[in-house]
Amino acid sequence: VDGTVDLRSDTVTRPTRRMRAAIAEAEVGDDVYGEDPTVNRLEAMAAERCGKEAALLCPSGVMANQLALRTLARPGTEVLVEADAHLVNYEDGAGAVLGGVQFRTVPSERGVLDPEAVAAAIRPDAYHLTPTSLVAIEQTHNRRGGTVTPLERVRAILGEARERGVATYVDGARIFNASAALGIPVAGLVEDADGLMFSLSKGLGCPVGSVLVGSQDAIERARLWRRRYGGAMRQAGVLAAAGIHALEHHVDRLAEDHANARRIADELDGTGAVEAERVETNMVYVDTGTLDAPAVASQLAEDGILVGALGPATLRLVTHLDVDTDACVRAARAIGELLSAFG
Ligand SMILES: Cc1ncc(COP(=O)(O)O)c(C=O)c1O
Repeated sequence: VDGTVDLRSDTVTRPTRRMRAAIAEAEVGDDVYGEDPTVNRLEAMAAERCGKEAALLCPSGVMANQLALRTLARPGTEVLVEADAHLVNYEDGAGAVLGGVQFRTVPSERGVLDPEAVAAAIRPDAYHLTPTSLVAIEQTHNRRGGTVTPLERVRAILGEARERGVATYVDGARIFNASAALGIPVAGLVEDADGLMFSLSKGLGCPVGSVLVGSQDAIERARLWRRRYGGAMRQAGVLAAAGIHALEHHVDRLAEDHANARRIADELDGTGAVEAERVETNMVYVDTGTLDAPAVASQLAEDGILVGALGPATLRLVTHLDVDTDACVRAARAIGELLSAFG
């Protein structure tokens, strides 16, 4: 709007004019009574798109993840996740506090779990052990650069769990990005999962919301827990209308975000700061070497370029529908100049 290029996250998008019009025109009712037609429509669309029986609109991705832990895992058991997963790193200990579970983390290459490592880490149900009740993957993997777990790998990881009677879950906050990168519909990526969530408020460009998807039975239990967690909403059709608009108009365009991320990586090629093969979707991680990443981010902010500093030498840039190719190139060139001037 004001010339600022905000690449901190794909959560910073503002609803487009057409999305605002869809919100304004939404038919609504009281969703606690099950009477909001727009919420019901979004939930039906989401379930169908993911190839599952039912869906539940949630106020946030964290709540959807926590509802999954509460309904797919059991208190007093372990949930197996990749070591840098959002579930264990960025949810303020909610899995322990609300879900009564502990996490067992498995390190990986690029956020993509190794099925053998997963199999080895699953603990059986035995009197003296903490059994594994759920295996979760993150698709795409946020902290590891928006990386994608390929379909064969998804099948192998979740297959190891299913063989052992362990439930399966996909934290698919950005699963539509994975779907775009792989050219595989979301339903095809989650066939072996008992549940998944996807975010409306990230690459899909909505102001609020994530959707939990799974079996009728799991979603009914999650609906009860959503109420307990304070997440039951009333005329939520205003949010659902944005979600429907996004599913209809903002999915195919994710390829543009991926092309823009690649463009940033290409601009920075030669600086040694970006591992180009890691740029699989809408994220670019930049290694600032000996330069202090937060200081680099502050310097860029003075020029109206906002990026995330994720560590002492790591910047994260995320492309989304509010930044075009020119803005991305401008940001990449500014970073390149800083790195070559001071690096
Ligand atoms: C992989 C992943 N899961 C869950 C979430 C949580 O979503 P929210 O911020 O809507 O609670 C995020 C948010 O960044 C995420 O990246």
